[in-house]
Amino acid sequence: MLLPLLGEYSMILHDGDYHGRQRRLLLPPFHGERMRAHGNLICDIADQVMSQKTIDEHFLARPAMQEISLRVILRAVFGVDEGEHFEQLKQLIGSLFDIFRYPLSASFIFLPALQQDLGKWTPWGRFVGQKKQINELLDALIRERKAENDSSREDILSLMLSARDEAGEPMTDEELRDELMTTIFAGHETTATALAWALYWIHYLPEVKEKLLQELDKLEENADTSAIAKLPYLNAVCCETMRIYPVVLFTFARIVKQPIQIMGYEFQPGTVLSPCIYLTHHRDDLYPQPKQFKPERFLERQYSQYEYLPFGGGNRRCIGMAFAQYEMKLVLATILSRFEVSLVNKRPVKPVRRGLTLAAPAGMRMVVTGERKLAKTPVSVS
Ligand code: HEM
Repeated sequence: MLLPLLGEYSMILHDGDYHGRQRRLLLPPFHGERMRAHGNLICDIADQVMSQKTIDEHFLARPAMQEISLRVILRAVFGVDEGEHFEQLKQLIGSLFDIFRYPLSASFIFLPALQQDLGKWTPWGRFVGQKKQINELLDALIRERKAENDSSREDILSLMLSARDEAGEPMTDEELRDELMTTIFAGHETTATALAWALYWIHYLPEVKEKLLQELDKLEENADTSAIAKLPYLNAVCCETMRIYPVVLFTFARIVKQPIQIMGYEFQPGTVLSPCIYLTHHRDDLYPQPKQFKPERFLERQYSQYEYLPFGGGNRRCIGMAFAQYEMKLVLATILSRFEVSLVNKRPVKPVRRGLTLAAPAGMRMVVTGERKLAKTPVSVS
């Protein structure tokens, strides 16, 4: 069902050798040092987006977090996010993903029988038109970047262009385009959902916010972004956010290749297994009082990757995991240390389905009530 959105060469839609090759080509830009190079940029973007909010005026949490995560992923992927091409791209991607906002329009993605192109006034026709425009823009950006031939660039697209497989071959332009779309899609919706949830929990539970502020305040003067990423309570809050309502309910399906026994059940080749992240995260033998938001559980115990799996596992584990975790921590640290924010309605909210994610309700409102300057501002916004 993701084919029309991502394109036929997207690694998400493949298995076996092609999947392994694409994964090997795509993993390096998401590793260690490279990812940390985006740290200050993430803080800057979070600060800019939140600075635009008018004091005491309500804003919707989800679109604000989406704006941050879209700008972050575009900057990380292309190295820039300004200019005519990018304005168009941001707008098109924003409206393309809006198809997930309502279950009715999302059903066009999930039900191929509804995929009739009857012109731009119909949801599917509009979707096809927007996707075509996005493809043309991505093709143009790839062409421009190739013509530039600048080996000093470190953005994800430049690294993808210089990557070679075992046979010494680069990705084709179509592969590059579909992998760019995959990265933007997978990296934008999911992280925005996780951030909106984190904002909810932090502002719904005063003791959580208080502990986070205390931790941020203890950072050393001019602490850099890697010091923020190592803060234990901030890490625990991010982990608990993705435990209680994992952004994605299930991992991708796995198909049994050889007879296998799991917890006393026999599975034969061809059986499709859908590991459920949500149910695992709500087992009370692993997570006592699983319906309660308790970051402390991640300070008291280390969970294995079979117990805690918001990013899936094995050979399909999310390639953006480290990037998303880093982004979440830096965005939250920036918002908390620079702005006084609160929820407009302090009542419990229930998750809603948004495309493939389990999201906070679209109408969740927040308000910036003032600026906060922690004694030692931990993020250096340029
Ligand atoms: C909070 C944010 C995110 C969450 C919760 C998340 C979650 C997931 C999950 C559950 C999977 C399926 C893993 C499996 O089946 O075992 C996945 C796969 C994937 N994710 Fe993420 N993800 C996030 C952010 C990102 C980011 C930032 C990127 C890229 C920039 C990304 C790129 C991908 C890709 C390309 C795959 C497919 C991997 C494969 O098929 O081998 N994700 N993600």
